[in-house]
Amino acid sequence: MSQIGAIVPIERDAQGRVIMLDQTQLPSQEIYHAYERAEEVADAITTMVIRGAPAIGVAAAMGLALGARQLDAGSFREGYGALCAQMAATRPTAVNLFWAIDRMTTLVDGWTGDLPALLDALDAEAEAIRVEDIAINRAMGANGAELIPDGARILTHCNTGSLATAGYGTALGVIRAAVEAGKRVHVYADETRPYLQGSRLTAWECLREGIEVTVIADNAAGHLMASGEIDLAIVGTDRTVANGDVANKIGTYQVAVMCARHGLPFYVAAPTSTIDLAIAHGREIPIEERSADEVRGVFGHPVAPEGVPVRNPSFDVTPAELVTAIITERGVARAPYFESLRGLF
Ligand code: MRU
Repeated sequence: MSQIGAIVPIERDAQGRVIMLDQTQLPSQEIYHAYERAEEVADAITTMVIRGAPAIGVAAAMGLALGARQLDAGSFREGYGALCAQMAATRPTAVNLFWAIDRMTTLVDGWTGDLPALLDALDAEAEAIRVEDIAINRAMGANGAELIPDGARILTHCNTGSLATAGYGTALGVIRAAVEAGKRVHVYADETRPYLQGSRLTAWECLREGIEVTVIADNAAGHLMASGEIDLAIVGTDRTVANGDVANKIGTYQVAVMCARHGLPFYVAAPTSTIDLAIAHGREIPIEERSADEVRGVFGHPVAPEGVPVRNPSFDVTPAELVTAIITERGVARAPYFESLRGLF
């Protein structure tokens, strides 16, 4: 059974260091790194030691709080601005990154006290973002669990659990909440090529926490739906925009199309920190393109000819018309999303 706190992807220790569970090494090794500099935290986000939209936001906030302590008092604001620019350059799609940077920067910009007190306030703000994220995920889980029927066979894509957040999870949090409410569920985890967040991370979390799970190749999802073996799909999101278009891990769009084809609900779990009302349409969302090596090989093992041209977009956009509902910590939004999402704020 799930235990909140059992998997801790990120936290600060007594010395203020940022401790992260290295997600590049799961499921074979559980290794924790202790970071002492903002540059190291930024690098951990870029290299996906930590990943998942809310977790990226928490990491950025902690990195800024850490880095701020190492800045020269005489040029604090310039130095802080450079730290923000470095964090912002790590990954472009998950809006939580920019949301967290903005939240920390609002504190800096409005500060009228002395520097030591500001540094303490930045530590407290980063910790508040972490703690709030868990509470938000729990509230979202409770809202979403009502949509999950007892006995549901649930397809999910990528990893949206404790590892992708400060704890509990977004889409996997909804599944976790349904399990905690006594519902029997079976999770089908898309393996999620090329980075294998489904088979490496979602399967690991589910097994660890006693949630029934079966891993499938991404291209098996349509077959299982056609065979009547899936009841619904639920995914997370890296950025959901004003019209309800949903950016999420590459392959999500295919899942949504398949759900529509088979008349299955396609749900999105989105904390409000992932909703970007400043963007009107999904086509404006920046889509990260990652290294060709992720597609040419599987974790260093070649599966395509060396040097063959590759495209590796890391996210796609699912149009709002394919989304049955967007589950947030403030309630469940349904079409028309332009009105329903705005109503949440
Ligand atoms: O590239 P990743 O692993 O950071 O992508 C993560 C996802 O796409 C998740 O589905 C998303 O962040 C939402 S759930 C936390």
